[in-house]
Amino acid sequence: MSNSRSRVVLITGASSGIGQACAELLGAKGHVVYGTSRRPSPDGEHYKMLEMDVTRDDSVQRAVEAVLAREGRIDVVVNNAGFVMAGAVEDVSIEEARQQLDTNFFGVLRVCKAVLPSMRACRSGLIINISSMGGAAGLPFQGLYSASKFALEGLTESLRQEVAPFGIEATLVQPGDVRTRVRENRVRARESGPGSAYRELFTKVLKTVEAEEGEGIAPQAVARKVLSLTEKRRVRVRYTVGHLSQRVALMAKTLLPSRTFEQLVMSIYGLSRR
Ligand SMILES: NC(=O)c1ccc[n+]([C@@H]2O[C@H](COP(=O)([O-])OP(=O)(O)OC[C@H]3O[C@@H](n4cnc5c(N)ncnc54)[C@H](OP(=O)(O)O)[C@@H]3O)[C@@H](O)[C@H]2O)c1
Repeated sequence: MSNSRSRVVLITGASSGIGQACAELLGAKGHVVYGTSRRPSPDGEHYKMLEMDVTRDDSVQRAVEAVLAREGRIDVVVNNAGFVMAGAVEDVSIEEARQQLDTNFFGVLRVCKAVLPSMRACRSGLIINISSMGGAAGLPFQGLYSASKFALEGLTESLRQEVAPFGIEATLVQPGDVRTRVRENRVRARESGPGSAYRELFTKVLKTVEAEEGEGIAPQAVARKVLSLTEKRRVRVRYTVGHLSQRVALMAKTLLPSRTFEQLVMSIYGLSRR
């Protein structure tokens, strides 16, 4: 099925969760969708899958070139591939921190650099970067994850201003908790096991995090937001998606004094000062 407003869409990390829900919905709505995964994956009913590891320049370039060779253009990119590195900041090794940034931040940068020349040539395009509410507020024991998403937020704010004169739009989507495989795919810092000074606190916080994830919204809700963005002529800097309580909590950051907001976050995770 295709319609006159059909777009060519590239979605990274479409083998599960939010990316897969986006590929299914956008494909079903008549867009020409290419999803990516690091592994060879079967095509979906309404979308094709390509191999792409966002941590490798050549892999990103190959996948983008394959779409351009087949379709002649890429109208929309959804930079979604990502994972969570969990552990106290002190326990995360520099190598682990690099891996987190390499996927969640440099991965997006690689894809943007690969698609922008063709978007500029078309003088149109839309880049949707999947951030997180953790990209607006630092979360305990997910410091490197928050850092990667804060970096993505800054990059996208700058990028928007640079590409606007070429008719290209860029935006951020900040989901709260979403029920996906994020829990199974979470990587724990090697030093966060027995022997870590943070072990007890980390275990307690992780329990809260996992309970919240289990109560999260369905990935299809994020996909509906992404679909609605593909239909806009102009997009805002960022959009939040999630339970009302989480959206309100995030809004509190702009209204409350920083220490008060921090206290609120700490109390949610059962943390207190000495
Ligand atoms: N779930 C949440 O509560 C939540 C909340 C806020 C933001 N987010 C963000 O939403 C995005 C999607 O997460 P999700 O919850 O849908 O997680 P998920 O179910 O674990 O899916 C993650 C996807 O990313 C891909 N991926 C991971 N590392 C990759 C790499 N190096 N190269 C290419 N693809 C890679 C995986 O594909 P392969 O393993 O097949 O390569 C998979 O398709 C992430 O950016 C995450 O930070 C999630």
